[in-house]
Amino acid sequence: MAFEKFYLTEKTALITGAAGLLGKEHASALLESGATVVLTDICAASLQSATQQLGDRYNSSCILTAVMDVTQPSSIVSVSRLLSEKGLRPDILVNNAAIDPKVKLDQGIVETSRLEYFPIQQWDLQIAVGLTGAFLCSQVFGTAMAQDGKGGVILNIASDLSVFAPDQRLYNKPGLSDNSQPVKPVTYSVIKAGLIGLTRYLATYWPDKGVRCNALSPGGVYNEQGEEFVHRLSSLIPLGRMADKNEYRSAVQFLCSDASSYMNGQNIVIDGGRSVL
Ligand SMILES: NC(=O)c1ccc[n+]([C@@H]2O[C@H](COP(=O)([O-])OP(=O)(O)OC[C@H]3O[C@@H](n4cnc5c(N)ncnc54)[C@H](O)[C@@H]3O)[C@@H](O)[C@H]2O)c1
Repeated sequence: MAFEKFYLTEKTALITGAAGLLGKEHASALLESGATVVLTDICAASLQSATQQLGDRYNSSCILTAVMDVTQPSSIVSVSRLLSEKGLRPDILVNNAAIDPKVKLDQGIVETSRLEYFPIQQWDLQIAVGLTGAFLCSQVFGTAMAQDGKGGVILNIASDLSVFAPDQRLYNKPGLSDNSQPVKPVTYSVIKAGLIGLTRYLATYWPDKGVRCNALSPGGVYNEQGEEFVHRLSSLIPLGRMADKNEYRSAVQFLCSDASSYMNGQNIVIDGGRSVL
């Protein structure tokens, strides 16, 4: 039957950072394919609102939630235990949580984003969430997938900045001196490149246990950024625009289902063609 391999009925998918802009889209994609979805996020209030929004559109009995901090092994283990008590263990893990520091071109100087002044505390925090968090969740949920013989899928959400460097001219603010110009922070590039390394490592770690791992690298999503920024970025993209938040859904459905059963260790870049220029 057409699209049968995309069906995720009887599968459980856990998403980290699920209450954010793209987390909710990943959840929609997986719910549409028939999965039971476990929304996890550090922010209880956002999680509640995400659950409400998704519950209005999908069968709410297929939506579970848990506050989970991906930087804390105890938090991850307790969600894993909670799910096991309900007879569930994730077949799909979407490592999506990140601290994505948006460069606020229209809202003043963000000079601490610059490498010269970047605070070590921000480095540690952002790496802990975006990279260590993906490792810790893979350790807990990936191990469970490998151990019971049923296997599973890990999807790491990277970024187009996993395959090229930020173009810092995008963030340039007229009137500021060179060393006051805001930039995309170094952590973002390091985390996203690191996630591709983690993806390859996991892809060859449990293949005999039926655990596959791939990465999805989205380009910038339009989310009411300033006009000047949108114009500058769009001019670097062959399709001439930023992505709509829902344009990654079908890739998530593909990568998390048997439709991609022979894909392992790859980084799927969906960026309107920016990376091929
Ligand atoms: N939005 C984009 O344009 C874009 C482009 C490329 C890649 N991405 C990637 O997609 C993913 C989602 O991005 P987004 O735009 O939805 O970001 P977002 O900021 O809207 O969502 C991120 C979520 O992660 C949660 N989070 C933060 N710290 C956490 C922690 N310690 N434990 C658990 N959850 C935590 C936040 O509460 C938030 O809900 C990120 O990995 C991001 O780097 C986004």
